[in-house]
Amino acid sequence: MSAGSSSVGATVPQTATTSAHLFEARDVSAHYGRVHALKPTSLHVGRGELVTVLGPNGAGKTTLMRALTRLMPREGSLFFEGRDVSALKTHELARLGIIMVQEGRGLFGQMTVRENLSVGGFTRPHEDEKLETVFTLFPRLKERVDQISSSLSGGEQQMLAIGRALMADPKVLMLDEPSLGLAPKVATEILETLGELNRRGLGILLVEQKAPLALKLARRVYILTLGRVAAELPADQIGSHHDLARYYLN
Ligand SMILES: Nc1ncnc2c1ncn2[C@@H]1O[C@H](COP(=O)(O)OP(=O)(O)OP(=O)(O)O)[C@@H](O)[C@H]1O
Ligand SMILES: [Mg+2]
Repeated sequence: MSAGSSSVGATVPQTATTSAHLFEARDVSAHYGRVHALKPTSLHVGRGELVTVLGPNGAGKTTLMRALTRLMPREGSLFFEGRDVSALKTHELARLGIIMVQEGRGLFGQMTVRENLSVGGFTRPHEDEKLETVFTLFPRLKERVDQISSSLSGGEQQMLAIGRALMADPKVLMLDEPSLGLAPKVATEILETLGELNRRGLGILLVEQKAPLALKLARRVYILTLGRVAAELPADQIGSHHDLARYYLN
């Protein structure tokens, strides 16, 4: 008898309580006071999947990320690797591997590159190995390992923020507009690295405002408008929706 099967043969319906996806949110919603910034929203990230959330300014993208990682109060359910994790706090979700790279990067400005990376990992074991992985992905960080992080360029700071998240062994990595404010060349470099991480098996939820490259990397896309998911579609089908293509592909 396999673990979890019932001795009386009755099959418990799984759909109501568990999820087959790596990560799934069901009817997650959030408020700022009386402002209902995120209406009940459901989405999922499959194993090894890169999913993009697109939406204009004020659509609720950051609110969604903050609600998912419980950086703000929220209603609704969250599942991770089939387990209901709705009640877990931000640091408990992080320990499971649900890690977010925030908009604005949130680095420790007076600390060096190496120090910022060290605080990203929860445990000392394998730190050198993980550092090497980060430096292979972002060689510029290796060159600047003892530099104070506030003196890095915007692109380098974003690389460091992603590197720090990688030190925490993410299983699903959420990124809030990682290309924001960066020159196209650096933004491309960073998004391509996310593509590489995804090819290595990392589940990624990538929030962007307008990013043709994000669409090339993604398998599926959710369009968020006015605090709700207005559409969900395979990323390669955006081109066949006239209004979406005009807004998001230019
Ligand atoms: N701290 C706050 N207090 C009150 N309202 C807020 C707060 N933060 C965000 N909002 C409102 O919630 C809505 C969604 O904001 P949010 O920051 O999630 O949008 P966004 O899609 O991330 O936008 P952007 O692309 O500009 O980053 C907006 O109407 C915003 O004004
Ligand atoms: Mg935002």
